[in-house]
Amino acid sequence: MSVRTLISKGGDEGVRIRGYKLVDLMEGSSFAAAVHLLLMGELPGRAEARLLDAILVSAVDHGINAPSIHIARAQASCGVPLSTAVAAGVASIGTHHGGAGEACARILQEALAARSDPAGQGIGDTAKKIAEEHLSAVKNIPGFGHRVYKTSDPRTDALLGLAKDLGLLGDHCRLALGIVDEIERIKGRRLVLNVDGAQAAILSDMGYRWPKVACLFVIGRTAGLCAHVAEELESGRPLGYLKETAAEEDYQGSPDRSLCGEGRASTGTKA
Ligand SMILES: CC(C)(COP(=O)(O)OP(=O)(O)OC[C@H]1O[C@@H](n2cnc3c(N)ncnc32)[C@H](O)[C@@H]1OP(=O)(O)O)[C@@H](O)C(=O)NCCC(=O)NCCS
Repeated sequence: MSVRTLISKGGDEGVRIRGYKLVDLMEGSSFAAAVHLLLMGELPGRAEARLLDAILVSAVDHGINAPSIHIARAQASCGVPLSTAVAAGVASIGTHHGGAGEACARILQEALAARSDPAGQGIGDTAKKIAEEHLSAVKNIPGFGHRVYKTSDPRTDALLGLAKDLGLLGDHCRLALGIVDEIERIKGRRLVLNVDGAQAAILSDMGYRWPKVACLFVIGRTAGLCAHVAEELESGRPLGYLKETAAEEDYQGSPDRSLCGEGRASTGTKA
């Protein structure tokens, strides 16, 4: 069987990633730069590697109530191996948790790609169109708004500040900030560009196609998941996390009933 891949090759002389010896990367590349090499095929420049590093750090943790952290700790509390609990946390990343970046990147990228046609619009017009289309359909725009951060998301401020300082603030970032202004104009209320939206805009400016944007969140968050799962396992309290976070039961189902007496015929069992 032959499997075609552009990413890596093994062999007697040691692994090569995209043509570079792994041992050389161990000496001369940061983790963030190696991630970029794996995903994009080339090593990033120094500024890009610095910004990618910040993006990875921004994703590592968001407290025990972040769904992936909560789910991983709950799994660990059941006594499964570390890798299983970490995998459960990663597996919870989806549309409603950690998925807004990919969805936001898709909107930004498709909008800017469409703008390059002869009838293309300026960034302000593109931002206006995106905001109006979503708000008139009562659809939340992924990457905007936050349950807790109402005036600014500190992670976004840090990432965009760094991107600006490094000269890496491009059209996707400008479009995302334009959408913030347009939402405020239409709703009379400012929503933040959240960290998922900031990551999406910056990665889009760095050339990441939208399906790969989630990779950075998954890679960054896995570090936090490992720490939380290891802590839970080390605590040595079986089911302890589940007990501590137990929800109050609000049963709204059928009233109590019994197999004996009136309900018996409906069970389908023979008398
Ligand atoms: C994160 C989120 C669920 C927070 O919801 P929330 O706490 O209910 O938001 P707010 O109370 O601040 O919403 C205020 C108003 O802005 C609207 N709004 C919130 N987020 C919006 C968005 N992304 N796009 C458009 N309108 C939005 C709400 O519908 C609400 O409108 P109303 O006053 O007419 O009812 C929401 O902003 C959202 O769905 N964002 C998109 C998904 C996303 O990026 N998730 C990642 C979060 S890190």
